[in-house]
Amino acid sequence: MSSASVDAPNQSDATPSKSSASIPPQPLVPLRDRLLYSDKARTQGAGTGEDRELTGDVKNRRKLVWTMVFGFIGAMTLASVKFFFPRVLFEPKTRFSIGFPGDFAMGVDTRYQAAYRIWVVRDAQGIFVLFAKCTHLGCTPDWKETDHKFKCPCHGSGFDMEGVNFEGPAPRPLDRTMVELDASGQLIVDKAMLFPYEQWGDPRARVNV
Ligand code: FES
Repeated sequence: MSSASVDAPNQSDATPSKSSASIPPQPLVPLRDRLLYSDKARTQGAGTGEDRELTGDVKNRRKLVWTMVFGFIGAMTLASVKFFFPRVLFEPKTRFSIGFPGDFAMGVDTRYQAAYRIWVVRDAQGIFVLFAKCTHLGCTPDWKETDHKFKCPCHGSGFDMEGVNFEGPAPRPLDRTMVELDASGQLIVDKAMLFPYEQWGDPRARVNV
């Protein structure tokens, strides 16, 4: 009884199921080829190596790698170029010529405000130079010819032609800069040397011409 049960053919082994019979046998394909080449290239055997058609995934991966490589090279090139052009703030010179005394009429001359932040003032005694920086919080006032005063646009401080504060929150008069004549008779201004109100009498704070 026991041998009969052992020798009996297993029906399920002998008769292939309908579903497995319909799947054609697949050839063994190395994993590398499966990853690198499309089914078409493998089955048709078109060329070898790089000649064969690559799968879409591999193409995309290669594109991504090359994009990263070129991006890295581009970034490094940009960084190298920037190294030779450092971000430097070029300040205007502190010592410069403003021409001859005869170039300045009586009153306030604002020609050098934009370039050097100064006003050149001629009065009955000579020429002095005001530093155009409000003594409240450092804004640049405007010369108001009709009102005959410097008016700060930030908080309304006012200074007369001499640079003395008379309205608004500015706590003290404007500073004057050093001014002198050079050997050729030109006026030389040096903004590195400022004279507050108490030192306006210093001979370097005015040129008597
Ligand atoms: S900065 Fe000029 S009034 Fe304030």
